[in-house]
Amino acid sequence: MTHAILTACHIISAAVFFAVASSDLTSSDNIVQISELRLRDEELTRRVLENDTVLLPCDNHFTFQYVRWFKEDQLLVDSRDSNETLTPDHIRLWSNGSLQISQLQPSDTGDYSCALKTDNDTEVKKMHAIIVQYAPTVKIEPEGVIELPIGAVFQVICEARGVPQPKLYWRWNGKLVDNEMIGNRLSMQIEVGSRAQTGPIDCVANNSIGDLAVTGMFLKVQFPPEVRLVQHIVYTKVGLRSDLECLIEAVPRAVVNWFHHGVPMTYDSRISRYETELQPNGSNLQFNTVIKHTLAIRNVRDSDLGLYECRAENKLGFKSAAIDLTGRPMPCVFKINPGVQSSTSHVLVWQTESLSALMEFKLKFRQIPSASITPQTLDVDYKTEWTILTIPSELSAGPIHITTYTLHGLQPASVYEVVVFARNHFGWSESSKIVRFATGGEVELPNYSTEAELYSNEDFSSVENEEQAKEDSVHLNEVYDSNTSISATSSLWSFAYLTFLTLFAILKYNLL
Ligand SMILES: *[C@@H]1O[C@H](CO)[C@@H](O)[C@H](O)[C@H]1NC(C)=O
Ligand SMILES: *[C@@H]1O[C@H](CO)[C@@H](O)[C@H](O)[C@H]1NC(C)=O
Ligand SMILES: *[C@@H]1O[C@H](CO)[C@@H](O)[C@H](O)[C@H]1NC(C)=O
Ligand SMILES: *[C@@H]1O[C@H](CO)[C@@H](O)[C@H](O)[C@H]1NC(C)=O
Ligand SMILES: *[C@@H]1O[C@H](CO)[C@@H](O)[C@H](O)[C@H]1NC(C)=O
Ligand SMILES: *[C@@H]1O[C@H](CO)[C@@H](O)[C@H](O)[C@H]1NC(C)=O
Ligand SMILES: *[C@@H]1O[C@H](CO)[C@@H](O)[C@H](O)[C@H]1NC(C)=O
Ligand SMILES: *[C@@H]1O[C@H](CO)[C@@H](O)[C@H](O)[C@H]1NC(C)=O
Repeated sequence: MTHAILTACHIISAAVFFAVASSDLTSSDNIVQISELRLRDEELTRRVLENDTVLLPCDNHFTFQYVRWFKEDQLLVDSRDSNETLTPDHIRLWSNGSLQISQLQPSDTGDYSCALKTDNDTEVKKMHAIIVQYAPTVKIEPEGVIELPIGAVFQVICEARGVPQPKLYWRWNGKLVDNEMIGNRLSMQIEVGSRAQTGPIDCVANNSIGDLAVTGMFLKVQFPPEVRLVQHIVYTKVGLRSDLECLIEAVPRAVVNWFHHGVPMTYDSRISRYETELQPNGSNLQFNTVIKHTLAIRNVRDSDLGLYECRAENKLGFKSAAIDLTGRPMPCVFKINPGVQSSTSHVLVWQTESLSALMEFKLKFRQIPSASITPQTLDVDYKTEWTILTIPSELSAGPIHITTYTLHGLQPASVYEVVVFARNHFGWSESSKIVRFATGGEVELPNYSTEAELYSNEDFSSVENEEQAKEDSVHLNEVYDSNTSISATSSLWSFAYLTFLTLFAILKYNLL
């Protein structure tokens, strides 16, 4: 091809051929004839894009003896030489002396010069510079997922290529890190400080040519296992299937083992274990996977009951949590009192759930000081003994038992507190929350709104029980709102209230 053109160039004296070309040249390139080599001139610098084509004119002579093109002093092509094997494929010499470079690559960037010998033996030289611009690419070191403990120090290095030089910056957990610069290399020293640093670290390069280049690594901050329980107590009965669940977070991933009464579990077709990854939530620790470990016990036997432990361990430490698998009844919950209350009796309603038949309840109640007593007498008078009643349970169709019981012989206009336990074949339930009630008549009562929370049984901090606490506080307010006149002696009561709280805490401890 090129061979044919060059041959044509020699043969045709080409007046017509060049007439078109010369007008083109003078108008478009504004080239002055120069007899000496010119230094690189911005005007002659072509900024082009990858894969573009450029045409470098040499001179506007109609005819010439020969022309040669050089790149950085290295001969590219000579019009006298018909052997073109030395000329790269994408470079082509036109018969009017212009050099065309197509499919420009970054490697074509450089200074180009031509030397032309005119018909009257004048040597004409001309220089061009080509800068092939291209979108950035970036590399990061280290790459992949890096797991490091708190306190570790490491360096991330980002290396970019691209013309013009890109602007480089870091993005950590999606946020910009304020250290951008223009260049080919960016580094950042990181001291691992907290688990919140877990997340992707990206290096971004932008030189306004094409798309941004982004590459990243993922920092995982290591931490010892954390164990959360879905339920601290799992209620069951013989023959049922029960699942014990531990939620475990750890980096590196923890090895989890189950124990029953301190003995490592053995697994078979009846007792198995499995794990599931929970979907991460949108917190700042969203990248840490929570794994739910489940111990599934089918067809529960008596011997399966008791304390289980899930123990999670990684190289930074271990943590375990205990779950009680029990057949005992669930703690009783007092319900909103529906009936008419008299001044000397009180109707109590409570509910419990027991998978095995209920046998009896134990109800404890006692009077607590009314508003008339002062803080001084409170300490002395407060130590009322509990009255303990055993109440047989009635038969119930399902596992839920609702019991109504009326306490008689109470003091009018007094405040009582009451707590109830349930028993089945497997033993006694945990204590219900302590609930207070007032008998009819004028009685001043403290603000109970936060009290129920105090009594939320810490042994049962599962979600259900927290909800129950709220229910109970509503319950208390409703009872008092509708059955007593609440007068605003809140200053005395806030003191008495605080004292109650302390005493109750002690009493509750003794009780349990
Ligand atoms: C030279 O020849 C090429 C190919 O025919 C043409 O495109 C160009 O306009 C001509 N003139 C110059 C000054 O390059
Ligand atoms: C240039 O051409 C090559 C081959 O056709 C292609 O792979 C590449 O993406 C092109 N580059 C640009 C910047 O268009
Ligand atoms: C062209 O040049 C190459 C390398 O110098 C040589 O090997 C080849 O024989 C030459 N071809 C012709 C047709 O002269
Ligand atoms: C050669 O020709 C060019 C025009 O093509 C002219 O400007 C130049 O002066 C001539 N040089 C000589 C030595 O005749
Ligand atoms: C890249 O940089 C240019 C110039 O600073 C800017 O106009 C452009 O918005 C940037 N591109 C992106 C995607 O941020
Ligand atoms: C995600 O949030 C929902 C509700 O906000 C919660 O129920 C669930 O347990 C959370 N999951 C994890 C893995 O923390
Ligand atoms: C009493 O309860 C109300 C809400 O029911 C609360 O806003 C108020 O602060 C409480 N007062 C005292 C003294 O605890
Ligand atoms: C509160 O007690 C009064 C009488 O003591 C009774 O009329 C009223 O129905 C009771 N309210 C509730 C909600 O039990």
